[in-house]
Amino acid sequence: MTIPYKHEPFTDFTNEANKEAFQQALAEVNEIMGREYPLVINGERITTEEKIVSSNPANKEEVVGSVSKANKEHAEMAIQAAADAFEDWRYWNPEERANILFRAAAMIRRKKHFFSALLVKEAGKPWNEADADTAEAIDFLEYYARQMIELANGKPVNSREGESNKYIYTPTGVTVVIPPWNFLFAIMAGTTVAPIVTGNTVVLKPASATPIIAALFVDILEQAGLPKGVVNFVPGSGAEVGDYLVDHPKTSIITFTGSREVGTRIFERAAKIQPGQQHLKRVIAEMGGKDTVVVDKDCDIELAAQSIFASAFGFSGQKCSAGSRAVVHADVYDQVLERVAEITEQKIVGNPENHDTYMGPVIDQGSFEKIMGYIEVGKEEGRLVSGGKGDNSKGYFIEPTIFADLDPNSRVMQEEIFGPVVGFSKAESFDEALKIANNTEYGLTGAVITNNRQLIERAKREFHVGNLYINRTCTGAIVGYHPFGGFKMSGTDSKAGGPDYLALHMQAKTISEML
Ligand code: SER
Repeated sequence: MTIPYKHEPFTDFTNEANKEAFQQALAEVNEIMGREYPLVINGERITTEEKIVSSNPANKEEVVGSVSKANKEHAEMAIQAAADAFEDWRYWNPEERANILFRAAAMIRRKKHFFSALLVKEAGKPWNEADADTAEAIDFLEYYARQMIELANGKPVNSREGESNKYIYTPTGVTVVIPPWNFLFAIMAGTTVAPIVTGNTVVLKPASATPIIAALFVDILEQAGLPKGVVNFVPGSGAEVGDYLVDHPKTSIITFTGSREVGTRIFERAAKIQPGQQHLKRVIAEMGGKDTVVVDKDCDIELAAQSIFASAFGFSGQKCSAGSRAVVHADVYDQVLERVAEITEQKIVGNPENHDTYMGPVIDQGSFEKIMGYIEVGKEEGRLVSGGKGDNSKGYFIEPTIFADLDPNSRVMQEEIFGPVVGFSKAESFDEALKIANNTEYGLTGAVITNNRQLIERAKREFHVGNLYINRTCTGAIVGYHPFGGFKMSGTDSKAGGPDYLALHMQAKTISEML
């Protein structure tokens, strides 16, 4: 009997022993900097000439590691390996598949700080964000393993006299997994193991900015007992390898997390039936967000300010759940804005390896330029209250930036910036605030800060987002507690870490037997 699921606790870094342990882990990670990692296809290691190099965004000169770069031939080999392995893996007992996830979770937990320290290096995450990312990776393994055990015998259906009916879940096929760089451990691991535990096989194309954690994870799955060919590791370019994998007639499921632009491209391509294809492809897409913290006049001002601050600037605003817009009732607008600016100015921006750092860099030069471009747009569209400067001499650092008095239809209030920039708009009423909150093409997360019970109930009905939070931040969903996924252009509302997620990877089968 497995013990009930409970999410992995976060580390308290005010505790000296934990702080020292984490510093030690950073030192250990320093020992593995610069290593090379091969492709893994059908359990075989393949080293290529061409590499994808992962560097530390806080210190561009530091190479975290490099991975071999797959081409179309490798992609083809990986799909064939996954298709072959499927013929055996699909018939494994679901509980045995789940046990591999439990074992992998235990292995990660034993070296938890080591992995988090690697995330600090590879993505520039401050300690607490890295710790939460590793915890979430463990959570996905623990949660989906249990879920699969529960679903192993299907769900009850009715039987009439003289017949016995069953409703069971069966695996689907080869799954192409394209994870993001922002939750480089959690989402990469979650989107890889969900297809695996449900009996599918995987071709994993990691994010090019953060392939090292993915390479280590593939090793862990193997050590935990995953048979060869069940997960194949092919880092490569989206244009060459990504499209090839998506288009392949043997691909059954594509699970993607990333931008709206790439997600919609995949969605379109997957709809086209290729010669020899015998099924419709499924796409699980988790795309962007332009998420709003709505503040009512009847609220706890400090809670409102802290919630806006943390939602906007956690991991430099590089979350699809980031609260990049604050819509505040006119009666408390100045007060809330001023307090958010105050909190922001007290926080340390810098090297994420330092314990005291609140916010590290953004991921790479492309992001740096895009965000700095939006800061220029913001200066035209609104009033710069805090931040606004960037420095990419050593790493890709951008100050947490606040713009006030924006038109709700301005670009800063409408477009996903994916950086440490928050825009404020004033609303004359709660009605107007809700209207503004709903006025983007996205519908991922949202928060409402109010003491008014009636308005809370209205928000529950009329604020159209996949994840609605009341009197807290709009980031930080926990697996099994806050199933995560959005409406509208935010994606397929697939609710990762929720009770329906695994079913998306399986084909339900009805069996009716005459007695
Ligand atoms: N699950 C993350 C959050 O809730 C975003 O991917 O912040």
